[in-house]
Amino acid sequence: MAGASSSGNLNSVSIVLTQDPERKSRLYELHMEQEMVLEAPLVVTFCADWFRTREWLRLRQARDNFNNLVGYLVASFDAMILAQNVCLGFESEGLGICYMGTTLYSMLDIAEFLELPDTCLPVTAIVVGYPDEDPTKRDRLPMEALVHHETYHRPSVAEIEETYRQREVKGWERYMAIPELKRMSEERGITSLAQFYTSEIKYDPESFREFSLRIEDALVTKHFLER
Ligand SMILES: Cc1cc2nc3c(=O)[nH]c(=O)nc-3n(C[C@H](O)[C@H](O)[C@H](O)COP(=O)(O)O)c2cc1C
Repeated sequence: MAGASSSGNLNSVSIVLTQDPERKSRLYELHMEQEMVLEAPLVVTFCADWFRTREWLRLRQARDNFNNLVGYLVASFDAMILAQNVCLGFESEGLGICYMGTTLYSMLDIAEFLELPDTCLPVTAIVVGYPDEDPTKRDRLPMEALVHHETYHRPSVAEIEETYRQREVKGWERYMAIPELKRMSEERGITSLAQFYTSEIKYDPESFREFSLRIEDALVTKHFLER
């Protein structure tokens, strides 16, 4: 984990561990009430963090930098690379993890709750614990659809059909096996996996517009972006 690749080896990341049940219950709210935040004994939040580096630069009378969009992206990439290394480490020890994509949506509130300083923002979080189930890994799209040789191969309609053929059956069955999701889908006239994905139930475009504004606001507040 400590050896994760790092841009310029500047290690522009911080990790905040949350184990205290009361503090976890606030994180549960900020992660849109995903049950695993309460169930798992540990939440690890990975932050893009230039605060420490910039303090060091200031102490050495060096020029300031990284309080910009490039800085945010560079530190975010470092944080994600580190997060995945940590996940592999936990999994190799028999622990289970789940990423919390909701970190992005509540970025600024989580930053406030964890008392993150200027130019420091959460990028992702994982919950960690010993799993009490062993679900089969879900299929990924076929590798041929993802890999391009030399230049991008624009998929034809027939290739798109083929790429999503299996997922449209299995994915749909998986969601429709959950009575609540089945009921909500029927109420909204949703008849396919594609429609489900961008419905209000899953990745609602309206919510995404709202989350995008929140992220922009967080970047401005923490001085990664100027308005
Ligand atoms: C960046 C990222 C964010 C994710 N956020 C969530 C989340 O908020 N809640 C959740 O249940 N799963 C989350 N996941 C897990 C994915 O849903 C999961 O990896 C995918 O459905 C495939 O399942 P599998 O990894 O168990 O095969 C996230 C995964 C990634 C990479």
